[in-house]
Amino acid sequence: MSREARTILITGAGSGIGRDAAFALARRGHRVIAATLTQAQADALQGECSAQGVAMQTLKMDITLPEDRAQILDLPLDVLLNNAGVGESGSLAEVGMQRVRAAFEVNLFATLELTQLALRGMIARRRGTVLFVSSIAGRIPMPFLMPYSMTKFALSAAGAGLRAELDQLRCNVHVALIEPGAIHTGFNQAMTERKYAWMDASSYFHAQAAQMRARERRVFALLEARDTRAIVAQIVRACEARRPKLRYVAPWAQGLMVRLARMLGV
Ligand SMILES: NC(=O)c1ccc[n+]([C@@H]2O[C@H](COP(=O)([O-])OP(=O)(O)OC[C@H]3O[C@@H](n4cnc5c(N)ncnc54)[C@H](OP(=O)(O)O)[C@@H]3O)[C@@H](O)[C@H]2O)c1
Repeated sequence: MSREARTILITGAGSGIGRDAAFALARRGHRVIAATLTQAQADALQGECSAQGVAMQTLKMDITLPEDRAQILDLPLDVLLNNAGVGESGSLAEVGMQRVRAAFEVNLFATLELTQLALRGMIARRRGTVLFVSSIAGRIPMPFLMPYSMTKFALSAAGAGLRAELDQLRCNVHVALIEPGAIHTGFNQAMTERKYAWMDASSYFHAQAAQMRARERRVFALLEARDTRAIVAQIVRACEARRPKLRYVAPWAQGLMVRLARMLGV
């Protein structure tokens, strides 16, 4: 593990894991560029940095917009932390495919397009790390969360494949996956709620909806880590590693549950 200062761009840094990782990395002396979905979030984050005496550059970057993504070409990045993501829920038996496509657009396609731009500089400089924030929902299928879960399966596969491809170039550019378990940022609650906006009386699951909603609330209340500390510690390790390993998972107990579930063939 090296502690040389690195230039690290984090997408979706206006809230949650991305925001907390930005502060943790900046406090460790790295040059953090915190990219946020909106300019208002960038301004608010800059205000927070000033109040806390933390040095950080902020940038408005909606990763689905080519003109926003192009900003990355001017930045000499050591690490790209692809953290921006959206949640989507509902049964695959009935969810509108435009919702699934929209989730793939942010979580996979725009993420890969941004990564391709970052790789130009990294491969030319023969130095860099690309991190994808996937999820344990990309390791085991999650009923009623499949519109999201599928995007993370695809992202984890993409990250592992890209890692093997770049290894063949021997260009000192590394790829790794960050796989958080359930963490209380508000993301899971917003994601599970989204389906109830369109699950009307015609839904196959209308009769179970109230029970399902109550169960989801109980499950997340029980499962979610109360804060982002464990996953942020893994992100810091991955950002600072000379050769990051393929997967960084936290909280560890949820990672263990996933490994057991996969061994049992879930
Ligand atoms: N919390 C969990 O339990 C959990 C578990 C596994 C994986 N993850 C993953 O961890 C990452 C961060 O999630 P989080 O829990 O910290 O939730 P979060 O606070 O909602 O973080 C996601 C961030 O991405 C931003 N974003 C959405 N669309 C974007 C776009 N087109 N361009 C740029 N930024 C965009 C969001 O902005 P707005 O808020 O303004 O929409 C938000 O700031 C996500 O990739 C998520 O899938 C989270």
